[in-house]
Parts: sequence; structure tokens; C-alpha cells
Amino acid sequence: MQGYITVWVDRELGTINRNIYGSFAEHLGRCIYGGLWVGPQSRIPNDEGLRRDVVQALAAMKLPVLRWPGGCFADDYHWEGGIGPQRRPRRNLWWNQPETNEFGTDEFIHLCRAVGCEPYISVNVGSGTVEEAINWMEYCNSSQESHYANLRRRHASPEPYGVRYWGVGNENWGCGGNMSPQQYAYECRKYACFMRKMGVDLEAGAYLIACGDEREPWNAEVLRHLGGAVGSLDALSIHMYRGGAPAQAHAASETFDASPEHFYRLMGEVVGMEEKVRQTAALLDYYSPSDHKLGLVVDEWGTWYCDTDEGLFQQSPLKDGLFAAAALNMFNRHCDSVVMTNMAQTANVLQAVILTRGSEMVLTPTYHAYEMMKGHQGATLLASQANSTTLADTEGRAFETLSLSASRSAKGCKLRLSVVNMSLEEDCRTEITLRGLETVKGVSARVLTSEQVTDCNDFDDGDRIKPQPVEVQAAVPSFSHTFPAKSLTVIEIEL
Ligand code: AHR
Repeated sequence: MQGYITVWVDRELGTINRNIYGSFAEHLGRCIYGGLWVGPQSRIPNDEGLRRDVVQALAAMKLPVLRWPGGCFADDYHWEGGIGPQRRPRRNLWWNQPETNEFGTDEFIHLCRAVGCEPYISVNVGSGTVEEAINWMEYCNSSQESHYANLRRRHASPEPYGVRYWGVGNENWGCGGNMSPQQYAYECRKYACFMRKMGVDLEAGAYLIACGDEREPWNAEVLRHLGGAVGSLDALSIHMYRGGAPAQAHAASETFDASPEHFYRLMGEVVGMEEKVRQTAALLDYYSPSDHKLGLVVDEWGTWYCDTDEGLFQQSPLKDGLFAAAALNMFNRHCDSVVMTNMAQTANVLQAVILTRGSEMVLTPTYHAYEMMKGHQGATLLASQANSTTLADTEGRAFETLSLSASRSAKGCKLRLSVVNMSLEEDCRTEITLRGLETVKGVSARVLTSEQVTDCNDFDDGDRIKPQPVEVQAAVPSFSHTFPAKSLTVIEIEL
């Protein structure tokens, strides 16, 4: 197959927010307990309870932001039970498992510091109160002589944590309280009013993210009922889970379904997601106050193949890595509206980047896609175009075989192209033209692929799929490169 890529190096389209490469960790299954946290007494190597191997892996993928504590769990979480020497064990209502509360706010902040990422906390709107939410903010961020700031000083840290990102509830149309859009807007107005005020502890103020939905008319109704209070908010979040066949969503067989129908439907989902991003961004533009534009956050997304008894544990094969890369390309291209995304979830749950079993750890192809594409974080998006054969899925969605985004590093010395060849069978010999560039100083590239799209890394062989260096003969104005079938390639060109 023949393909053509053009990058206009001098046509800058915006900044790719590094938070597009974020993750989400919930008290669900073995994400937190076992996945991220093993406790200080564990024989598994840890630093004050945090798994050392996992922290190192998350730092190496340059994770920028981590959302916590849920998910559905967030609207049943009462943070005061998870601080200090006396933790309050409870039942984890939504995920029907015991909650020891060993991992609480201080442990979460410690995790973020160890990884080098920003914390993003979702407050409890469904079964909590405004008071509880602002007390939590005071605990995290206040430097005054106040009750909650003093609690933090006593239990964990003399210094405030400086938590900037705060979510106002989670899926409040469902597990977060079964609210109508009007009801949520009413709650959100109150929360945002007080949380905004409490944000004065931060130099840049708190960044408040309201709960949206992928299905309309929720967003339109919420925004309409928020009225002038929309000015207290910074962003709206939607969730996008994919992977189950429409007729048999969450069938257990989907993870290892290697059929072209399934694979192309998964790739085609990115087209549907892009449409949703466009629609929601347009709505946000319409309702944004005159002094700031509301950002779009996708704070849960990824594949969801089956509901297992193992706390939504699923394998994450190569096809997940390619889906993640194609979706990240799409989010990059919409960096004028998409300000953050958080893949669900960090470890052992849904489209995990990390799987653990006891002391063992495996990095999934999804992890490798994030790690390979990390250079786009904070970079300048460049105009680019990919043309090749058009593919179609069983839903009637048509899409280019090559998915692409291109960026130039903030310092301007590196050009990066991330290219997914979504053909199951055909390599794509591609003519790559770099317009507006006079010389190329050097080039390096890595490719992620395997025999089957259902191949995965597991505890028998954790290195089956990993990025491999590949030779690229870059030149200006054009050069050729062959992208193998079912692969992700990241090309880095020194300018
Ligand atoms: O990620 C699993 C669950 O999916 C989250 O708790 C919820 O927000 C969503 O429905």
C-alpha cells in the first residue's frame, strides 16, 4: 500500500497540553491495593508503601497527571476516614470490596510526588457535602492556622500540597447520585461557588472540572442551567469507553477477538470519539463565559471488554496500544479544546498501562504507546496530513489507514511524528514531506508491533511486545519510510 504524509513545520496549531497523557486510579479491584500501594510492611520493594517498580515505570512514561479516588468510588468516599493514624475501614459500595482506607490523601500526594505528576482529586457530590469538599481543599492547600491545615501538619506535611485540579463529582447522572441535569447543575453551582473561593490558596486558583456525559442532552442542559455560574468552572469532563460489540457489550471474548471486524470497529471508534470531541467542544465554546474558554476533559476513557469478577481486570493486547495511540493522535489534533485526558485505569483495571501479580509487574502495549508518544507533551502541534487507503468498519465509519499527529518540541529542536498503520495486513510505503524545513540534523525512530493484534505481555513473557529501534533515512524535503501493518511508529527528527 502507498501512503503520503505532509507536515507543515512552520504552521503551528497550538500547544499540546501535557495533561492529555494523564491516567486515572480508582479504589477498584487491584488498582490501588496491590497495583500502586502494598503498604510499608510488604516484602514487595516499596517506598513508604508505594510499589517502587510501578512508581519508576510511571515516572519513565512521564505521567503528567493522576485522577483519584474515583470513578463511582469518589461519590461514596469520605476523605477524613483516610487520614491520620486511625483509618476507618469501610465497605467499598460500588465495587463491593473492603476498603481499609490505608491509602488516603497523604499517600496519594506522596505517590504523585514520587512519580512527578500533578494530583487531580474528584470530590464527593453524590453523598457528600459542600463543607466536606472545601474542608478537603483546606487540608490539601491551606497554609493558614486553620483546623484542617493543622491536621495536615500533624499527620503528614508542614507544607501545603498545592492541589490544583478538582473534579465536581463523577458520573452524577448515574453512580454519582442518579441526578437529572437540573439537579446536578444546582449542586454544581453550590460546589463551584465555595470551591472557587477556597482556591485562593493557590497562585493560579483551583481548576474546577464539572461532570458531563458522552450522551446528550446532559451537557447542554447542565450548561444551560448553570447560567452565570458557568464562570466559576474551568472545564467539563466526559467519559468514553469502547471495545464491546454494540450487540453484546462487555462480552468476555472481546479481549482476544482477533477478527478484522472487531479490530476495525475498535479503530473506527476513534472516528466516533472525534465526532464527540468536536460536538462537545462546540457546545463548550457556545456556553463559555467571555473571559475564559471552558476546556474539554476526558477523565475516563479506554477499552472495556468485559465485566469480570476480578475487579474489572482485563489484559491489554497490542490492539489496545494501537487504539490508545490513534486516540492520542486525535486528542493531540484537538488540543485547542482537549485540555486533559485520563485513561482508565493505571494498574490492573480496564485498559491498564501496568499489570501486577504479587511482586511481578508487566508493562502493557498501552504503556509503551504512552511512553513512545510522551515527547508530544507540551509540544507545539503542527499542521499535518496523512493520505492512504481508506478503511471502513462494520458501523459504516470510514477512516484513513494512517493515523498521524506531528509536533515540534517546546524548545523547537525536535520534530515528532507518531504514525499508526491501522491495516491488519498491509505495510504502508509512505512518502513523507516536511514543508518549511531546510536541514535535518539527525533522526531516530521506534516501532511497536507484533504478529497478532491480540498478542500481549503477560507474566510468562513481559517483554513480548516492546518498542524496537527502526532505521529511518530522513531527508528534506522528502523521504520514504515503510510503516508495518498494525504498528505504531514514532519518528524523532533533530532540527
Ligand atoms: O472505571 C470504572 C468506572 O467506570 C468508574 O468508576 C465510573 O466512573 C465509570 O462508569
